Amino acid sequence: MAILDKHKILETNATLLLIFSFLVVTIGGIVQITPLFYLENTIEKVEGMRPYTPLEMAGREIYIREGCYVCHSQMIRPMRDEVERYGHYSLAAESMYDHPFQWGSKRTGPDLARVGGRYSDQWHVDHLRDPQSVVPESVMPKYGFLEHRKIDGKYIGDVMAANALVGTPYSEEMLENAQADFLAQADPDSDYDGLLERYGDKVNVRNFDGQPELTEADALVAYLQMLGTLVDFSTFTPDASR
Ligand code: HEC
Repeated sequence: MAILDKHKILETNATLLLIFSFLVVTIGGIVQITPLFYLENTIEKVEGMRPYTPLEMAGREIYIREGCYVCHSQMIRPMRDEVERYGHYSLAAESMYDHPFQWGSKRTGPDLARVGGRYSDQWHVDHLRDPQSVVPESVMPKYGFLEHRKIDGKYIGDVMAANALVGTPYSEEMLENAQADFLAQADPDSDYDGLLERYGDKVNVRNFDGQPELTEADALVAYLQMLGTLVDFSTFTPDASR
């Protein structure tokens, strides 16, 4: 056991111990991290996923700006109580276009990963304006000012271009038409064929906040109403080998 005796040299020499610990951690790190670079994809491919439309992207930016994530997560864990309350557990693919992601388990308010389509647009507008008017015991703050802040989508193409840089598959065409698609989604009287062609015909085209002006409330409600609606879980079967 001569080699084990040498361990004493390490234990009594701080510099050597530091160098060897560093070596061990480096090797461990390489073993864990290198394979990730050679894997095709660590995210299961799931039908239905698409990048956010310009209006939804604007809503997401407002969601992040207002700190909604401080009280709300967007990650349903595969535990029975969560699945029964919120629906199918979240898939990695469902947040693959989220930069940054909205996972978390601190929930002052409920998880929002599948809130899309659960309430009417009007409910969301009322709830944002005065949460206690629809849920009397709510501790959620009021966000009525969003209805008065007009937006025109002038810079949404830049936000999308930044997301494209980190891997969201926005095409040239999507980026060029960003502002037009932004305006079209909140105006059912407009010509929104291009929007549906680019993002799929399941995109909600409505006057989300019910006011003639296009406001931050429109964008935020458009975003909330699509959350968790992209993947059709009546036809989805998870691949257990992954
Ligand atoms: C201080 C914590 C807090 C913040 C910040 C907050 N919420 Fe909430 N939210 C709650 C609570 C608590 C509830 C549950 C009671 C209720 O429905 O109002 C809730 C409920 C909701 C619901 C209904 C969810 C459901 O399944 O019934 C939505 C949608 C929602 N919040 C959106 C938002 C958005 C969008 C923002 C940011 C603009 C936001 N919240 C900010 C605490 C918060």
